[in-house]
Amino acid sequence: MSQAVSAAKAAQGGLPLDTIIAGDCVAALKTLPAASVDLVFADPPYNLQLQGELHRPDQSRVAGVDDAWDKFSSFASYDAFSKAWLAECRRVLKPTGTLWVIGSYHNIFRVGATLQDLGFWILNDIVWRKANPMPNFRGTRFTNAHETLIWASVDAKASYTFNYEALKTLNEGLQMRSDWLIPLCTGSERLKGEDGAKAHPTQKPEGLLHRVLVAASKPGDVVLDPFFGTGTTGAVAKRLGRRFIGIERDAGYIRHARDRLRAVVPAAAEDIALTRTKREEVRVPFGQVVERGLLEPGMKLYDPGRRWAARVRADGSLSVDGATGSIHQIGAHVQGLPACNGWTFWHFTADGKLKPIDLLRQQIRAEMEAGAAVPTAAVAPAVKRAALRAVRV
Ligand SMILES: C[S@@+](CC[C@H](N)C(=O)[O-])C[C@H]1O[C@@H](n2cnc3c(N)ncnc32)[C@H](O)[C@@H]1O
Repeated sequence: MSQAVSAAKAAQGGLPLDTIIAGDCVAALKTLPAASVDLVFADPPYNLQLQGELHRPDQSRVAGVDDAWDKFSSFASYDAFSKAWLAECRRVLKPTGTLWVIGSYHNIFRVGATLQDLGFWILNDIVWRKANPMPNFRGTRFTNAHETLIWASVDAKASYTFNYEALKTLNEGLQMRSDWLIPLCTGSERLKGEDGAKAHPTQKPEGLLHRVLVAASKPGDVVLDPFFGTGTTGAVAKRLGRRFIGIERDAGYIRHARDRLRAVVPAAAEDIALTRTKREEVRVPFGQVVERGLLEPGMKLYDPGRRWAARVRADGSLSVDGATGSIHQIGAHVQGLPACNGWTFWHFTADGKLKPIDLLRQQIRAEMEAGAAVPTAAVAPAVKRAALRAVRV
């Protein structure tokens, strides 16, 4: 283990954070403490078993993966290797942690069976559909246009991080599906050597890692990649405010990864904070808006088209033409509907404009979350005065 690793380890209480460990991943994993990692992303050798050279129609040679690190003598030796690194990953994962492993048809079924045998529990398989796949030049098979990611928890009962709302936001309000259309790593993102050739034959796109880390980790979490290559996992982890541990045995790839990581600027904390789920938000009843004096009894609330006006009551209910009820009930009542979200339906007047009462709820939430028991008159004078002015006219 390098001096840099030892120093970082000492500083981090046994965990070499934001460090690349040079060496074999099984041996290196054994040096890490149990239950210390939040997420493993593994892009292991695919055992491609390429047979002969492949050429394009113009006779240029396709640079396939024919590196020694991808070669195994038999399926049995590949399975033994998979079992060794997967078992160590399961040991270092926290009970709440998850494993992501990516592969192609050459290896992913074997890896999937091995990880199930070890007790991992598969949560999803994700199809990474390549927006720009390489054609099947010989025309003998389908275009091989996807790879598969297996996402697994350490056992069937584990509770694990899944940032459902963040993914939905990433997908413009729609639930994220298990088929991801993401281009291959090309252009300026693709690392090149001094000779202009690709620095690594299987560098993964940062977009793929971005989605994985947004889905299943939190800022500050420890992300481990036992097959670090050029450090794609580390680069995205650093940018998103996660800590990383990389393991790689090729000194050339480590050099590329180090240079790459040095150039990554972490995003500001406010830009990586997770979108809260509805369940995680502090509950604020409408009565609290009245109690806090943001709206006063007798003030009027309107629908966006000013067709209906309701009076605010001291107990946090509304009244319209003799009917009283919650903001939701009265909203539904005036429209003749079975249900209504009163927070977005009813509006108060401020500076001559209608604003949804949800803004007042958000303001109270922000105060509560900041833990500041600041008097209402001090925190919301603009809203309060504007609403008062509107009602007194
Ligand atoms: C598929 S590549 C990973 C590429 C990486 N995801 C990236 O974006 O650059 C697999 C990497 O694992 C490394 N490797 C293979 N066997 C290893 C082992 N036993 N221990 C550590 N690294 C290994 C290889 O040198 C190679 O860089």
